Amino acid sequence: MRKVLYAGTFDPITNGHMDMIERASKLCDVLLIGVMENKGKKPFFTSAERKNIIERSAAHLSNIEVITFDGLLADFVNVNQIEAVVRGLRATMDFEYELQMAHMNARLYNKDVETIFMMTSPQYSFVSSSIVKEVFSFNGDIEGLVPNAALEELKRKMKNQNEGGL
Ligand code: COA
Repeated sequence: MRKVLYAGTFDPITNGHMDMIERASKLCDVLLIGVMENKGKKPFFTSAERKNIIERSAAHLSNIEVITFDGLLADFVNVNQIEAVVRGLRATMDFEYELQMAHMNARLYNKDVETIFMMTSPQYSFVSSSIVKEVFSFNGDIEGLVPNAALEELKRKMKNQNEGGL
């Protein structure tokens, strides 16, 4: 059973991430999508909300499993028999950060685990979760940049927040 991990904050998942997921899912038996925490970020959605959005968005794919994990990515890889970690590269600016993370993670793995870099499709090369949230918060059009489930949850949560709820 070939298990591959695609991890990220996914706050929320975008169509750029979905493109990676669809392509990576063809390379393995099981693609684990890890909703993880980046210490430098304060997410808008809870990890349970992010997981739910991904599950709804990837429901058409049969070999996907979505998990939440708030420890080290390498610890998750070590205890779950992951053979490779997939990362998406959007532009050269992603490369240095990715290289640093890949080297640090490699030091923490207790066996050989490959990091596979895939190029994000060009139509999503400018997309990030933050830019999508920012545009949406000013009522800008983000149709086509995020899956429907993400758009619905952004609408719901921002409306609730504006009305003083959760
Ligand atoms: N399409 C669209 N957007 C993409 C993308 C793609 N293919 N690939 C990346 N992005 C965006 C992400 O949405 C994210 O946007 P944001 O900064 O606006 O949120 C940005 O590019 C950076 O993505 P990424 O590098 O995947 O960062 P991340 O915060 O989503 O994920 C973790 C980083 C969670 C994998 C990393 O912090 C981690 O491993 N955390 C666990 C703790 C740990 O082990 N730390 C030590 C690591 S050495």
